[in-house]
Amino acid sequence: MIDFGLMPIANGFLRPSDLGAEVRYPLSVVACPACAMVQLVDVVPPEILFPAEYAFHSSTSDGMARHFQRLATDVIARHSGSVPFVVELGSNDGILLQHVAKAGIRHLGVEPAANVAAEARAKGVNTVSRFFGVEVARDIREQYGPASAMIAANVLCHLPDIHDVIDGVDVLLSPDGVFITEDPYLGDILEKTSFDQIYDEHIFYFSLTSMEALFAPHGFCVVDVEAQPVHGGSMRYVMARTGARAPGARVLELRHRESTMQLKAAATYADFRARVETTCAALRDLLVRLKDEGRRVVGYGATSKSTTTLVHCGITADLVEYISDTTPGKQGRLSPGAHIPIVPPSVFAAAYPDDAILFAWNHAAEVMDKEGEFLRRGGRFLTYVPDVRFISAPT
Ligand code: TYD
Repeated sequence: MIDFGLMPIANGFLRPSDLGAEVRYPLSVVACPACAMVQLVDVVPPEILFPAEYAFHSSTSDGMARHFQRLATDVIARHSGSVPFVVELGSNDGILLQHVAKAGIRHLGVEPAANVAAEARAKGVNTVSRFFGVEVARDIREQYGPASAMIAANVLCHLPDIHDVIDGVDVLLSPDGVFITEDPYLGDILEKTSFDQIYDEHIFYFSLTSMEALFAPHGFCVVDVEAQPVHGGSMRYVMARTGARAPGARVLELRHRESTMQLKAAATYADFRARVETTCAALRDLLVRLKDEGRRVVGYGATSKSTTTLVHCGITADLVEYISDTTPGKQGRLSPGAHIPIVPPSVFAAAYPDDAILFAWNHAAEVMDKEGEFLRRGGRFLTYVPDVRFISAPT
């Protein structure tokens, strides 16, 4: 589908002293002509992607907090009448399960990263720190009984051993239980040309077509779908055991829509590739022009996605002064590949630049609200999704 060549680790923000030690890995994705699954060809070993100090925090924005609160309400609503036991895979710092816990519902988070698991426990969320698979599923079932609902939000697309995870769901889920999963949606990536969703941690780029092909051999079918605005466009899939519930109207609608998207056709991906190159050239040309005009340009949000954008589009440190980011662990470091310094938001606010590339474009509404002062003073946000353009007014 698309080959980015050798790329640095997307989340590998470097200490200046580690500059000489940066390693690159092949990054390319292929699309299956039979089932429409889009996935990475090479998987970077997890110990390199997720060193001990790495901790992805789900609670990076108010928008995500609200999203998880709504998801918790949805999960609780889908439980009327049954004896609930909610299990979340990749429960992170308890951003979702805290609401389930507050509602007094029996629950368990499964979160391998010990530090964020500890934060969840501090919020009253029952959490076990292990990698989910068949073995862990058996242990949980033995100790707690079957789960009436299982959730994996922005988790499945990261897991290379996905069949073991689905087998684990099969072991743990009750006969009439639901498995709710959501991940960035291939349809959005193609429609918005959001090629920066492609990076080492995202192994799978799911669609309803590929999800149905993936889960059917395990005895599950998709009974509901719902588009979500998070992560730049995600899809929520509600699965049940085949025959337990009938697929709803939204599943039939999305199946039809995906058939018009031609997700199995090579031409679809050739067209995507061409649009990626158009976006990249336009972005780079614009940055060069802004520099020639003497404008100060910075980046906003040191996202993992920004690594793909910066490196693939050939945007160098002379074109972007710094990237402002709220994450303390990224501040003082250099962006992977392009080696642009990451600074705290106080640097941005102390002397507003002329323009800011919105690498956190998935949080555009929240950022526009927050940075009204920058905009009022004539600052412009520059986005490149779905195409290169300025956003110069609050949303
Ligand atoms: P995220 O949405 O998780 O994207 P990715 O999965 O591509 O890393 O990351 C958002 C990043 O942007 C995170 O590092 C925090 C940062 N950020 C800001 O600096 N300011 C903001 O106002 C928001 C919303 C995010």
